[in-house]
Amino acid sequence: MSTVLILGASRGIGLEFTRQYVAQGWTVFATCRTEADRIRLRDLGAQTFRLDVMRLEDLAGLAWQLDGERLDLAIVNAGVFGPRDSTLAKSPGDEEFDQVMRTNVLPAMRMVPVLAPLLKPAAGTLAFVSSRMGSITEASGSYGMLYRVSKAAVNMVAKLAHADYGATGIRVVSLHPGWVRTDMGGPNADVAVDESIRGMRRVLADVPAHPGGGFYDFRGQALPW
Ligand SMILES: NC(=O)c1ccc[n+]([C@@H]2O[C@H](COP(=O)([O-])OP(=O)(O)OC[C@H]3O[C@@H](n4cnc5c(N)ncnc54)[C@H](OP(=O)(O)O)[C@@H]3O)[C@@H](O)[C@H]2O)c1
Repeated sequence: MSTVLILGASRGIGLEFTRQYVAQGWTVFATCRTEADRIRLRDLGAQTFRLDVMRLEDLAGLAWQLDGERLDLAIVNAGVFGPRDSTLAKSPGDEEFDQVMRTNVLPAMRMVPVLAPLLKPAAGTLAFVSSRMGSITEASGSYGMLYRVSKAAVNMVAKLAHADYGATGIRVVSLHPGWVRTDMGGPNADVAVDESIRGMRRVLADVPAHPGGGFYDFRGQALPW
C-alpha cells in the first residue's frame, strides 16, 4: 500500500487530493489547522495532523510525529494568494509580504530536509503545488505580483531540492493545477477541482514521462520555469 502526506488538506485542492488518494486505497496523512477540518478529514479516512505552516513549532511537531514513516509521495500544497491588486505600481505592505512568503515559501524550504529521509526508502516523489503564475519565462504583467514572486521562489526551492536530493532517488516536481474552482481560484475558474486532481495524480504516477526536476501542468504538459 502507498502512503501520501498532504500539507494543507482542509479544502480545495488538498481536500480533493485527500479524497482521491483515499478512494484509491492509499494511506493518507493529511494536515489541517482546525478541529472541524480534522474531524472531516478523519471521517474521509485520512490520518490527521495539526499544522499551521507559519508556525515553526508545528513544523517541528509534524517532523517528530512522522519520524520513521515511509512516504511514497509528499505534496506541499498549502498556500495563499495574498492581495489581488498587488502590482509593481502597488507593492505589498510588510504584513502582506510576510504572510504570503511565510505561507508559500518558507515552509517549502523548511520541509525539504524533513521529508527527504521519509521519501528516500521508497524513492518517492516530493511535489510542490506551484502555479504557472510563478513562471518567469511566461510572466507578461505584474498582476498578482506578490503571489507570482512567491511561486517563482517555490519553483526555485523545487529545483534546489532536485539538485540536492535527486541523486538519492527522490523525484522532485513542481505542479500547476490549472485555474481551479476553489476558494482561491473562484467560481469563474475553468477547471473543476476533481479534474485538476485526476490530472495531477496521472502526472505524479507517470514517472518516466514526468521526471524529477520538471514543472508540469495538470494535463502533463511541461512548463518553462
Ligand atoms: N485554485 C487555483 O486556481 C490555483 C492555481 C494555481 C495554484 N494553486 C495553488 O494550489 C494550492 C491550493 O490552492 P487552493 O486553490 O486549494 O486554495 P484554497 O481553497 O484557498 O485552500 C488553501 C489551502 O491552504 C491552506 N493554508 C493556507 N494557509 C495555511 C497555513 N498558514 N497553514 C496551513 N495551511 C494553510 C488552507 O488551510 P485553511 O483551510 O486552514 O485556511 C487550505 O487548505 C495553493 O498552493 C495555490 O497557490 C491554486
